[in-house]
Amino acid sequence: MSVILVVDDDAPTREALATGLKKLGHEIYLAGTGAAALDEVRHHPVDLAIIDLKLPDMEGTELFGALRILRPEAIAIMISGAATVDEAVSALKRGIYDFVTKDFRMGDLRKVVSKALETQQLLVENQRLREALKDRGPTGRIIGRGPAILKVLHLISQVAPMKSTALIEGESGVGKELIAEAIHYQSPRRPKPLVKINCGALPEGLIESELFGHEKGSFTGAIQQRKGRFELADGGTIFLDEISEIPPATQVKLLRVLQEGEFERVGGTQTLKADVRVIAATNRDLEEEVAAGRFRKDLFYRLNVIHLVIPPLRDRVEDIPLLALHFLDKFCLENDRRPMGFRPEVMEALKSYYWPGNIRELQNVVERAVALCASNMVEFEDLPDEIRRHSPADDKIVLPVGSSMDEIERQAILQTLRKTGGDKELAARLLGIGLATLYRRLKEMELKDVPPEES
Ligand SMILES: Nc1ncnc2c1ncn2[C@@H]1O[C@H](COP(=O)(O)OP(=O)(O)OP(=O)(O)O)[C@@H](O)[C@H]1O
Ligand SMILES: [Mg+2]
Repeated sequence: MSVILVVDDDAPTREALATGLKKLGHEIYLAGTGAAALDEVRHHPVDLAIIDLKLPDMEGTELFGALRILRPEAIAIMISGAATVDEAVSALKRGIYDFVTKDFRMGDLRKVVSKALETQQLLVENQRLREALKDRGPTGRIIGRGPAILKVLHLISQVAPMKSTALIEGESGVGKELIAEAIHYQSPRRPKPLVKINCGALPEGLIESELFGHEKGSFTGAIQQRKGRFELADGGTIFLDEISEIPPATQVKLLRVLQEGEFERVGGTQTLKADVRVIAATNRDLEEEVAAGRFRKDLFYRLNVIHLVIPPLRDRVEDIPLLALHFLDKFCLENDRRPMGFRPEVMEALKSYYWPGNIRELQNVVERAVALCASNMVEFEDLPDEIRRHSPADDKIVLPVGSSMDEIERQAILQTLRKTGGDKELAARLLGIGLATLYRRLKEMELKDVPPEES
């Protein structure tokens, strides 16, 4: 049961609203002025306010502003005599949930109210999750509460103080770099540099000189002496990303730095020393690379002193809502928008998707949704195709009770065709009708063709 406040200066309207809404089984309070409304808000935990746009003592939107301060989790529906599109749009922009005109039908209003209350419950739930995001401790930027990520966080705090080499293994986008950063910034090496190098992004001939530097004239193009990353990282940490891509000759030299802390610049004779902690990352199974003879076994053991395996996002579904909300808040803030929420079917879809691109992909999906989303809730339609297609929600046809048979049939045909990607034979078979019948129905419905899903 929720608490609804109806604010309208016209007594008959107020009473009519109260009578109509009582059927939903909620607690209802009435007010005729803004001041009286605020008094009610102070005394009752209002979840939803239905506010007349023009009140005798203040504008409806002013009352909404005050309501927001007193009850941040409450939401509002505005009523107005003759709403212009402009008024409606500006109301929605202020965070008002919906807008109805005075000539509403009770049945419609009840639907809007039910939907609004569902949204309000979600906002409360989202708020609870956001609170959980707040107290995040030392590894602050790493979001997640599930057992898998907690284990990783625990390991980070254990290994950070040591100098031991760490190998981070995990699929693309699971957060390997973020975890390397966490290790460095929790270690005593924090004031010294964290130097990153992506071994997969450098041509074979350049890796060595990038890592160890080169002397002037050591190869064509080496017009000056240059320090390598190991020298630059002295006292700090070096992050070797995509370690499996290091060519065999460089693997030998890397092993020597790890064992002796010594190396020479390319073309140089002087032996240099550097005190560097090495963190390596790979999205391949390095043991498999060793078995296949592509990666040195001794180097593998030297790197693998501390082994961190970051599970893919699909194996830590419990973290998806937290991460999704974290990114939602981030992009809303960046784009100067009010914090939004996710509809339940959106969260379900996010939780059941298999996330081949892991957290990076989730981040992109949320960013895109924020850009597309027109209201203050992310809708199923704001998700990209590949996620909607995999969602259980996409397999259902939801129609209001009381829809005409024509409409039910039309939706059944349309949605089935969408699911089959426009394949009419398959759709007819699924619908249990002949192909000729399907064509006839489509023609009757004046749907010449149904656009296939874009992929
Ligand atoms: N637990 C997490 N909490 C918050 N943000 C995260 C988390 N894990 C990853 N991210 C974010 O996801 C994105 C991808 O993470 P990161 O670059 O660390 O992944 P990666 O494993 O190094 O990927 P790749 O293998 O593609 O290099 C980054 O923007 C990172 O900040
Ligand atoms: Mg990375």
